[in-house]
Amino acid sequence: MKKSLLFLSLLLLVLGCAENVKKKEDSITGRAWWKEGIIYQIYPRSFKDSDGDGIGDLKGVIEKLDYIESLGVNMVWMNPIYSSPNADNGYDISDYRGIMEDFGDMDDFDRMLKGLHDRGIKFVMDVVVNHSSDEHEWFRQSRSSRDNPFRDYYHWWPAEKGKPPYRYSLFDPKGDAWKYDSVTDAYYLHYFAQKQPDLNWENPKVRQEVYDIMKFWAEKGVDGFRLDAFQYASKDTTWPELPEGFEKNVIKYYGMQPNLHKYLKEMNEQVLSKYNVFAVSEGAGSTFEDAHSLVDADRKELQMAYHFEGMDVGNSLEGYKLSEFKEVYTKWDSAFAKKGWLSIFLANHDVPRMVSKFGNDSTAFRAVSSKMLNTFILSMRGTPYVYYGDELGMTNIGFDSISQYRDIAAINSYEKALSEGEDMEAFMANLKFSSRDNGRTPMQWDTTAHAGFTTGDPWLPVNENYIKVNVALERKDPNSCLNYFREMVNLRKNNPVFVYGDYHLLLPDHQQLYAYTRSLGELQVLVVMNFSEKPATAILPLGDNPEVLINNYPDVDRAASTVQMKPYQALIFNIED
Ligand code: NOJ
Repeated sequence: MKKSLLFLSLLLLVLGCAENVKKKEDSITGRAWWKEGIIYQIYPRSFKDSDGDGIGDLKGVIEKLDYIESLGVNMVWMNPIYSSPNADNGYDISDYRGIMEDFGDMDDFDRMLKGLHDRGIKFVMDVVVNHSSDEHEWFRQSRSSRDNPFRDYYHWWPAEKGKPPYRYSLFDPKGDAWKYDSVTDAYYLHYFAQKQPDLNWENPKVRQEVYDIMKFWAEKGVDGFRLDAFQYASKDTTWPELPEGFEKNVIKYYGMQPNLHKYLKEMNEQVLSKYNVFAVSEGAGSTFEDAHSLVDADRKELQMAYHFEGMDVGNSLEGYKLSEFKEVYTKWDSAFAKKGWLSIFLANHDVPRMVSKFGNDSTAFRAVSSKMLNTFILSMRGTPYVYYGDELGMTNIGFDSISQYRDIAAINSYEKALSEGEDMEAFMANLKFSSRDNGRTPMQWDTTAHAGFTTGDPWLPVNENYIKVNVALERKDPNSCLNYFREMVNLRKNNPVFVYGDYHLLLPDHQQLYAYTRSLGELQVLVVMNFSEKPATAILPLGDNPEVLINNYPDVDRAASTVQMKPYQALIFNIED
């Protein structure tokens, strides 16, 4: 590595790290520990089963702490682990201070948290408070009578007023967000499943409950909160009829009401400012202004958000255009270059596997394109989120029959499509590609039965490619996705230019290549990736003596500023003079 890159990196790391551990965000430099983090997302149901019931659990995660540490990541976000009847795999919570029986108990949680902290890894808790489970005590009380003290914890519409104004529900078999409840002759609101009634954030008691819950977990030592479906928390509770064309801006009509900011300021005052924690919002509104209004430091609300525009690219079976991909990431980067902070991710538990969607999961290109995509995530500005198994290049499972699906979203949308007379062949083809179950299959640990995930029957089948794609094999193979991932993580962690450096797009019109520089003071790196299965020629401002910092192929074919890029090749050069 060139001397100045090495020296400056070390200096910044030494000067910065000690301070950043203590401070939330340095108001002069803008540096913060959560900006410097690399987050590994664990879907606990699918990570490691310790007791043979076919469901992953916290003891399983504890068994794998050394593995997590070996990745080099320094934060873990785990999907909900609270008590839940599991209508939506834990996103329907019946006790916010309890642990789901399937996953273990509070002792397991404490041991897991300590194990992570002992390894220098911070922990991010999923906070699901747009809605609770209908089995939560608040809802049991609320539905029991119209004058129950908990009635206003949820949104009710008395039936004598007629049918409530239409609202769409994402997981309802009829798409209707109002569910009639005969106990009190009224409808309650559920933007998600019927078993996920929406909490009424306009009620100060509800908000206080939420802040108290967050304090409970902050006292336990968690380091961050991921606010689920949070932009929907504040609604227009006059329930106006929705104007024509509202579908084009669902967030505006379904959430993001001005009160949201009042509530976030309250949350910041009561919780976020009192502990060394950060909070990330799932969703960033529908404009850059919305996103800034959630995360800019001077707003004193949240610290980070993730937008969905990147996820909307590549949703169709026909694939996507690289130009669209580049445009989305470039415009979001420039909108946040000076202020605010975002996440960078290509997959999570709600979408297909990264390599099946944005790369190429054929035998020939699976590994190399996975490495390329991880190069992208780990070389962009923003906090990278890596979904479990993507470090191995895990792929979509692609179910053919509806009986194989476990996800409520898949099952209920199938019912809805069927009742509406949709073309079911097209529906199933789309589901096979886009279903959330694709990204939830068990982690592939080794070549033993069920990939070493469980000794019982896994709750969701293991992808058959586990024989080739698994931790045990990849650990031994110096050219594996896993080892490349570790190398890339190291590169980012040791070079602040990847975290804080300015981003500048190169070759904007190239149909196959995505190239950009990142620069911080004298540090300058150039990232170039071939997003296609065909070779491509890149002419790049490489300077006189570019040093290759990482390469997902054994060699580089370069003559001066011309590089012959192989299919899905990813290269990072140090190009400082
Ligand atoms: C977003 C979560 O990521 C998703 O998994 C869940 O189904 C919905 N919110 C409802 O909580």
